[in-house]
Formats: sequence, C-alpha cells, structure tokens
Amino acid sequence: MQEQISSLREEITAQVSGAENMAALEEIRVATLGKKGSVSGLMKGLGGMSPDERKVMGPALNGLKTEVADILAARKEVLEEVELEARLASERVDVTLPVQEHAAGSVHPISQVMDEIAEIFAGLGFDVAEGPDIETDFNNFTALNIPEEHPARQDHDTFYLKPDAEGNRKVLRTHTSPVQVRTMMSKEPPIRIIAPGRTYRSDSDATHTPMFHQVEGLVIDKDTHLGHLKGTLEAFLKAFFEVDAVTLRLRPSYFPFTEPSMEVDVQCSFDGGTVKIGDGNDWLEILGSGMVNTKVLEACGLDPNVYQGFAFGCGIDRLAMLKYGMNDLRAFFDADLRWLKHYGFQALDLPTIAGGMSR
Ligand code: DAH
Repeated sequence: MQEQISSLREEITAQVSGAENMAALEEIRVATLGKKGSVSGLMKGLGGMSPDERKVMGPALNGLKTEVADILAARKEVLEEVELEARLASERVDVTLPVQEHAAGSVHPISQVMDEIAEIFAGLGFDVAEGPDIETDFNNFTALNIPEEHPARQDHDTFYLKPDAEGNRKVLRTHTSPVQVRTMMSKEPPIRIIAPGRTYRSDSDATHTPMFHQVEGLVIDKDTHLGHLKGTLEAFLKAFFEVDAVTLRLRPSYFPFTEPSMEVDVQCSFDGGTVKIGDGNDWLEILGSGMVNTKVLEACGLDPNVYQGFAFGCGIDRLAMLKYGMNDLRAFFDADLRWLKHYGFQALDLPTIAGGMSR
C-alpha cells in the first residue's frame, strides 16, 4: 500500500509538471482528487481496513491528498502567470502607430460642440467648472431662489431619488445652474466659469429628451454689469456660429435666480428652409440669462453689497442642432452608427480659435 502511494505520488507529480495549460491541469485534478479520482479511490479503501492499518494509512493518504492539492495549486499559479503574459502580449496595442482612418471612431456632435464652447470661452478667460449629475435639492433649487413651494419647481419635471434616512431627496439636476452655487461657495471672486454637462427632466419628444445637455456661464466681480454679459454673449455666438457679426435681442423674462432676467434671441433667416445665423428678418431664442439675484449671492455666502455678476444658461443640444442642421434630438442618443458617421467629427480635428471651430 505504501508503495502504491509513493508511485501514485510520483506519477501525479510528473503529470502536473507536464500540464501545459489550465484545461490539462483541471483534467488532472478531476482524475486524482475528483469523486472518482485515483486519490479519492484509495481514500475510500480506508473503510475496509483494520483499525491498525487505518492508523498508518489514514495519515499517509491524507498527506498524499494535501500534497496533490498543493502541487496542483502551485502549478495553477505558474500557468495563470503564463496565460496572463500571453494575453498581454497578444493584446498589446502600439499607441504610437498612426490612426487608421477606416478604423477610427468619430466625435459625437455634442462632444464637438462642448469642445468648441470650452475653446471659445477659454479665449475669454473662463475656466471650466463641473458638478455632479446627482444634486442636492438645496443646490438645484433652494440656493437658486426656488424654495419648496415655488411654482418654478413644477416647470422642471424633476426626477427625484429615494429619500435618505433624514427624508432628504436628491435630484437628477434639472439644469447646470447648481454648478454656479458650488462655484460661488468654494471660490473667491473674481469668478469666470462655464459649466457644461448633462441635465435631466422627465420630458420626451422631437426636441426634448429625458437627458440633455446645458452649459452654464457665471461671472462674478465687483463691477460686472449687463454690458459685459451682452459683449460676452456676442463674442461667444459670433465665434460659435462662425460669422462676422451677430445681432442680439435681449427680451425681459423671469428666472428666480436672476434679476433682471432676459431671454436672448439671435437674428437669423430661415430662407431656403435652413437657419442662417447672423442676418435676416427672424429671431431665434437661444439662451436665458440675467444678473445674478442678490438672494442667490447671499445663499452662496457672497456679500451682495460687494459683489455682483451675470449668469446664463444655454441648451447644448439645441446649439448643435442649429449649427449642424439636425432636426430630431432623439437621434443624438440612438447610437446609430450611420448617423454618427454622417454627423460625427474626426477625432484629431480639435476645434481651435486659430484653426477653425468645425472643419
Ligand atoms: N437654468 C435655466 C434653465 O435650465 C437656464 C438659465 C437661465 C440659466 C438664466 C441661467 C440664467 O444661469 O441666468 O432653464
């Protein structure tokens, strides 16, 4: 019996060290330690032995079992390492190779427009600020002068999250304006930021999707005024629509977070069925803006006797549709490769003020 054990040990050791891959190793494991395996078979024999025999053979067989398990585990570790090395070698990508045109993906129009906006505002000295998609009720509403009972809350078709233990409900931010709050609370003026990002409202048709994109702008300093707002928006829209001049119309409006508030229209023509920004006899509403309400400054810890400024908020999807001539917003989020191929942008053509926004 002892002999049988030692020859089995030798045999298994040789088999294990000869196993070239995980599948072969697994076969050996089943053939030895598996229910019907050779080692298990010997263990079953213990039952028919005399107590004296069992006293010797029990520990010997258990030793064999442990030993076999150990060498299987050791070999497994080696083989795993080998397989990983092989995979790393086969999946290696040389990132220094030139991009292959036919294999390259394309930049989504939304990303393109966000890059264009960031580039234009960078030229005007704005930083890009960010905030989370899941916001507190305070940042999304209350700090922006939209308290609990305010009717403006109804306009937002808000997606609420489940309340936490204290009963506070977070929201999917309904606009990018909470980034204003975050910025004013964390930075000393002068502040000059844009905040592009995703926003959410429970609304869906050809021009509304439950997730959409906005860009927020905020400038706070000691003597920032409406003239600065108008000049900034003119410079932005001129650069964005790549025209020599734009004419803006500022219409009085209402937003809880600005006072006074205005909606901004840009002069355009719809001749020939397409929108042309820059001249013409029509007006296109393009964004909301105003002077930051003193209540908002106060809620964010800024002294309204010292600081003032302007803010604006603009739908990015709409800007993209206007500039690149798409008419159904829903197609933006269908991930249809044919659409992306048609409307997408080349990955290496980054928009620059000097080189052009869209080539
Ligand atoms: N937050 C507004 C919305 O989503 C847009 C907006 C209007 C933002 C005026 C502003 C602003 O900063 O001043 O409808």
